[in-house]
Amino acid sequence: MTWSADNQHYVITELLVGTAYAATVTDSPAPTDPSAPSADPVARLLLADGHRLAPEAQTVTLLDLPDDADAPAASLWPRVRSHRDRLDTGPSTDTLAEAVQGAELVLLHLPTSLAALQEQVATIAAHAAPQAVLVAAGRVKHMTPSQNTVLARAFTEVQPQRGVGKCRALHAAGLRSDAPSPEPRSAIEPTTGLTLVAHGPVFAGPRLDRGTSLLLKALSAQADRALTGLDALDLGCGNGILTAVLARSGAHVTGLDVSRAAVASTRATLAANDLPGIVVLTDGLTEQDAASADLIVTNPPFHVGAAKDSTPTLGMLRDARRVLRPEGELWCVFNSHLPYLRTTREVFSQVTVVDRDREFTVLRARG
Ligand SMILES: C[S@@+](CC[C@H](N)C(=O)[O-])C[C@H]1O[C@@H](n2cnc3c(N)ncnc32)[C@H](O)[C@@H]1O
Repeated sequence: MTWSADNQHYVITELLVGTAYAATVTDSPAPTDPSAPSADPVARLLLADGHRLAPEAQTVTLLDLPDDADAPAASLWPRVRSHRDRLDTGPSTDTLAEAVQGAELVLLHLPTSLAALQEQVATIAAHAAPQAVLVAAGRVKHMTPSQNTVLARAFTEVQPQRGVGKCRALHAAGLRSDAPSPEPRSAIEPTTGLTLVAHGPVFAGPRLDRGTSLLLKALSAQADRALTGLDALDLGCGNGILTAVLARSGAHVTGLDVSRAAVASTRATLAANDLPGIVVLTDGLTEQDAASADLIVTNPPFHVGAAKDSTPTLGMLRDARRVLRPEGELWCVFNSHLPYLRTTREVFSQVTVVDRDREFTVLRARG
């Protein structure tokens, strides 16, 4: 397969067939090659298989592909829409349903979470064109037979393909009329009595995470100020458990998250419990005004995508000082081995460890 830039369009030659195709998809172009269709081999496999199966498709949806796949896809098909869960990974439709509406071909970068896959597949079944074809692919080491089972609930034909390099595709066609509906999961959380709603890949699903549970206990036992009327932020709000608890305590709360699924989940959790609150799709605290909050609570992210990287969270902890009012407080729970205590001590003058067990540390910072 050769890709060349021609009047801003990518042209595929020696196309996408048989062993020639298999061999060439395996050969990753150097990431610096300006004519490479995508630096990601899974995206290249998806584009190649999608074009082989549905070259005439009019409406094509890319789900969670890297943004460097958009341009080559737009050169292959007339109407291409992309959906990505994280705000910071490229342009996206607001919702999954909007992205797959009427799609004849859907290219899906398989998520690690089966719950996320279930919601994606059910949304495709509810909104794509009846003749829709799905090509789903991932790294072989992240794939499991359960993913085929999930696809088979929505499609009558599911065909796993041979591996191409370290990647593999699943082809699915024949949408079932009895496919599951794309409802988010929900459950009553017993310690708080709150109904939690979880879309797709949201952290902890509709459950209370153990670290978050420690943070909640510490907050309710040791907060020496009533929460009523405080301007509070829940940084990385996920399924909305902390946002909902703060709202129920009378705080003016805003949930912040970089994930569209998390924002939708927190909004749904607030609605399910008839609680007020604002929820914003945003990256960290970057859009928050200086000295605008009395309280920030967070069970912060400990990884970016599949890679564990604490750098973004260290930046958010530093930014918390800017956003808090002079008497404001940061409450944070984290895995005890992470370097967050040291960073928080560099930024705040008073840092107290309010709870700690073998796994988690809860801290309170001010000043
Ligand atoms: C460990 S989870 C906590 C979720 C929820 N607060 C709870 O306690 O169950 C961390 C959350 O941070 C979000 N997140 C990751 N990176 C972020 C960023 N740059 N800005 C805002 N939120 C982010 C994730 O999407 C995830 O929902």
